[in-house]
Amino acid sequence: MNAALQIQDPVMPLLPQSKGFTLTPSRQSPRMLELTFAQDTVEAFVKAVAEWPVQALEYKSFLRFRIGQILDDLCEGTLRPVLINTILDRATGGMLITPQGLNDVSRADDMVKFSSAVAHLIGRSNFDAMSGQFYARFVVVNTDNSDSYLRQPHRVMELHNDGTFVEERTDYVLMMKIDEQNMEGGNSLLLHLDDWADLNPFYTHPLARREMRFTAPPSKNVREDVFHAVFDNDAEGRPTMRYIDQFVQPKDYEEGIWLNALSESLENSPHKLSVPVPIGSFVLINNMFWLHGRDRFTAHAGLRRELMRQRGYISYPKALYQRGQ
Ligand SMILES: [Fe+2]
Repeated sequence: MNAALQIQDPVMPLLPQSKGFTLTPSRQSPRMLELTFAQDTVEAFVKAVAEWPVQALEYKSFLRFRIGQILDDLCEGTLRPVLINTILDRATGGMLITPQGLNDVSRADDMVKFSSAVAHLIGRSNFDAMSGQFYARFVVVNTDNSDSYLRQPHRVMELHNDGTFVEERTDYVLMMKIDEQNMEGGNSLLLHLDDWADLNPFYTHPLARREMRFTAPPSKNVREDVFHAVFDNDAEGRPTMRYIDQFVQPKDYEEGIWLNALSESLENSPHKLSVPVPIGSFVLINNMFWLHGRDRFTAHAGLRRELMRQRGYISYPKALYQRGQ
C-alpha cells in the first residue's frame, strides 16, 4: 500500500506535494479516495481549453491528450502520477473526483472536457457504440421503456463490471453526474473485490474460468456475442472480474444456478459502498477489481438525471508507476 495512504485522519491531505488538488480518503471507505480540484485550477483549465468545443475533441482524438497535458501542467506535473498510481493501486483503485465550481448543467460541456482530460492522463477512452463517440451522455427520467436497467429509475442496477460484451479492454470506468433534479436515492453502489467475503469460493469454483456467452441488448448497438470467463487474474495473480447479470447467457442449468448464487452473494455483501455523486463530480474506478451499480430512486414526476460515462484502457509510462510504494 502507498505509504501516504496509511494516514487515517480524513481531513489530512494524502499528498502534501500535490498542486491544484487534494487527495483524501472518503467517508465511505479508505479504498475510495476523494480527489478535489481547487476552483482556480478548474477555471484556469476551462479558460485554457476554451478554443476547443467538445466537438473538436470528438473529431481529433489527440486533442483529448493535449487537454490532459494542460490540466497536468496546471497541477505542475503532480496530477498524472497520482492518477496512475491510484487507479493501479489494488488497495484503492477508485476515486470520487470533484472539479470545484463545475456544478451546474449549464456547464455540461466543461464537465465533459474536464473528465476527458483526467481520463486521457491514465489511458484512452474507448469508442462507445451506444453514442458513437468516446463518451456517452444519457438522461434518466421518470418514465422509461429502455431494454436494460441503465435508465430505469425504480430498479436497483445490480453490481457489475463494464465492457463485458465488447472485445476491447475496459480497464477503467468513469461515471459523471451532469444534472440531477427531484432525485431522492440513486447513489452509486460500489464493491471492491477484496472486500467481498465470498470472493475465494467463487474465484476457485470450477465454473469461474469457464467461457460464458455475453450478449448486449439492441440499444447497445453491439451485435456480436462475446465469450469469456467471469473470473481471470491480473499479472500478479490477483483475481479480476468481468461479469454482468443482465447480459451473461448461461448455457445450462449448472451455469444458471452458479451465476444466480454469485449475483445474490454480491448483492448481499455488507461491504457494498453507497456513494452520493454530486452534480459535476465523477467516479473513476479500476474496472478489473471494482464492481459498480446504482441504488433505486424515489419516483417523482419531475425527476431528471443526466449522466456521462467513459470506459477505456489504462496506458502509462513505466517511470510514472511506483510499484509497491
Ligand atoms: Fe455499468
